[in-house]
Amino acid sequence: MRPHDWLLPGVQREPGQRPRVVALGGDGIGPEVVEAAVRCLECLRLPFDIDRPLHGATASAELGTPYPEAARAAVDAADAVLFGAADTSAAGYCRPILRHLRFGLDTYANVRPAVSLPGVAAITGDARTNLVIIRELTEDLYPGCEGDLAELGSRWPELRDRIGRQLPRSGKFALRITTEQASRRVGAYAGRLAAHRRALGVSRGHVTLVGKANVLEETDRLFFAACERELSVIDGVTWDTLHVDEAARRLVAQPFGFDVVLTTNLFGDILSDVAAEVMGGLPVAPSGAIGDSTAYFEPCHGSAPDIVGRGVANPAGAILSSAMMLVYLGFPAESARLTEATERALASLARADELQSSGFCRRLTDRVCAGLV
Ligand code: NAI
Ligand code: MG
Repeated sequence: MRPHDWLLPGVQREPGQRPRVVALGGDGIGPEVVEAAVRCLECLRLPFDIDRPLHGATASAELGTPYPEAARAAVDAADAVLFGAADTSAAGYCRPILRHLRFGLDTYANVRPAVSLPGVAAITGDARTNLVIIRELTEDLYPGCEGDLAELGSRWPELRDRIGRQLPRSGKFALRITTEQASRRVGAYAGRLAAHRRALGVSRGHVTLVGKANVLEETDRLFFAACERELSVIDGVTWDTLHVDEAARRLVAQPFGFDVVLTTNLFGDILSDVAAEVMGGLPVAPSGAIGDSTAYFEPCHGSAPDIVGRGVANPAGAILSSAMMLVYLGFPAESARLTEATERALASLARADELQSSGFCRRLTDRVCAGLV
């Protein structure tokens, strides 16, 4: 498994320039798994420091805000951010941080690989599977334009559905947003990544565009057309389209048939959890969210409130996310070392009884670090 197969190198560093890296644990198990990843990064003795500004529950207690100005400024100035998770329930603190990382930094290409890990049991995936889901991260339903149908109906009385019906008089709506510009930039990223993987000999350079254009005739057709325009100008890259329900079935039945999967925000959120589970479980799945001038990296899992504070959280998703961050920052050799050490540590500990056992987070991190020295 090689993180440089999954994403494009990011920042171009001048010789001797030290990248600015920020780590924010967030809520729930986020601080545990990010701390584990930071420990591993420190074992690599990289030529940069990792800034860990006060945030979340502690900042809320001490400063009255979960996202103090100093933390926000550090994030804005960073070349890359490592994040744990935000609990979006009333018990959480870090949702504003997650919103800033996604919408404030405009990190639009969410890169979610699903690759078989040696020693980690996969449900249906096998060693042939090496796919990457690229999820558009700024649009679709996620900006959260929701409201009352009664109000929408009174402001837009002539609005009809596809079969000519008026809106129901009561209930709620959610607006699904798709723009040409946002679709094109994520399409271009997916196309460049497919070409990069083809050049590395990892894959044939094929993009599967996933949506529901047979139902979402306006939004998904625009997404497909805009992405296809970008893909068509990249040499050697091929593509086809798939309905999201069929994509879900194939991700379970034949995940090795995919190369780069390109889709919108909600579909990508769901499909990437399916792919993660198929390949070895949500806790080991890493991700990155790439913008034009910065990026942030986080495990695919959430804040896992059911296991917080017990030391049983698996930090592999966070550690592998930090390995992706190293590729982005221009340290592919160190990224490969960290990935290999994580694979070896997982393979030695990843029996089901070990995965649930107390102290697993520390034990796995100790093994990864031991494998790095
Ligand atoms: P979750 O990913 O937090 O947990 C799902 C299941 O996986 C739970 O049983 C949990 O114990 C287990 N799990 C997750 N990570 C694990 C790890 N590293 N090691 C061992 N087991 C692990 O998803 P859920 O329960 O749907 O959401 C909990 C909270 O997290 C919600 O508030 C949700 O909104 C938030 N969330 C945040 C995300 C983010 O910050 N990007 C992503 C997904 C969920
Ligand atoms: Mg998710």
